[in-house]
Amino acid sequence: MKPLIRKPCVVANWKMQGSFEKIETFLKQLAHNMVDVNQLEIIFCPPSVYIDSVKKLILKNKALHPLKLGIQNTYCEQTGAFTGEISPLMAKEIGCDYGLVGHSERRTLFHEDDTLVARKVLAAYHANLVPILCVGETAKERDEGKTFEVLSRQLEVVFQQLSFEWLQTIIIAYEPVWAIGTGVPLASESVEAVNVYLRDYLARYDEKLKHLVRILYGGSVKGDNAKSFFAMGNVDGALVGNASLQVETFLTICRDAVSIMNQ
Ligand code: 13P
Repeated sequence: MKPLIRKPCVVANWKMQGSFEKIETFLKQLAHNMVDVNQLEIIFCPPSVYIDSVKKLILKNKALHPLKLGIQNTYCEQTGAFTGEISPLMAKEIGCDYGLVGHSERRTLFHEDDTLVARKVLAAYHANLVPILCVGETAKERDEGKTFEVLSRQLEVVFQQLSFEWLQTIIIAYEPVWAIGTGVPLASESVEAVNVYLRDYLARYDEKLKHLVRILYGGSVKGDNAKSFFAMGNVDGALVGNASLQVETFLTICRDAVSIMNQ
């Protein structure tokens, strides 16, 4: 049983996939089968260009009102001559409450380093967006026994600039890079071990954070394995990529989150 204070959370990250038509179908089916949102927070992160329209679809359908919107990436400034970038303030204005920051695809493919990630987290907070901070080691780093060292480094740059008030709301997503999109997740016991480490890390900043901050797992979470993660005491939900594109699979994951994490 999770402390009530950490509401279970499942995030759908569609990355640069789908279409408006697919989103409409997804939302329609989600509305018909909505899970108990008193027991689960669901955050949808569609490609940014659709967010405004998605917000309108949500407002039109009462069953979807509890669905939260997240943006996949925002810049570290609110306004200015930054062609192609997305302002956190503007994301908030069109209806986002959350923002992914530091996803491994951003870190690897777009060369975002820890310092930029930290600036983006700060800018998100200033815009009233709650950051979902993604951290995780590569296969090489894991093989070299550097997982905890890497996670500490990724967290430290961010944490040292945040007050307790902000830190208590952050969501951390532990996503081992090598498990993303491969169909091969990390074993649930190993995820639990990392999340326990992350919780102890939080306690170094303030003991209360250990109990307040939600820590998710991401990396090949699917309909048939989500349960194993949710059964772990220190996993508060999932950040789901591929499996969130199919509404039935996504709903299975959400239902498992409700039934297992609220037992
Ligand atoms: P997959 O679920 O496709 O492995 O992706 C995980 C992820 O990167 C979510 O942000």
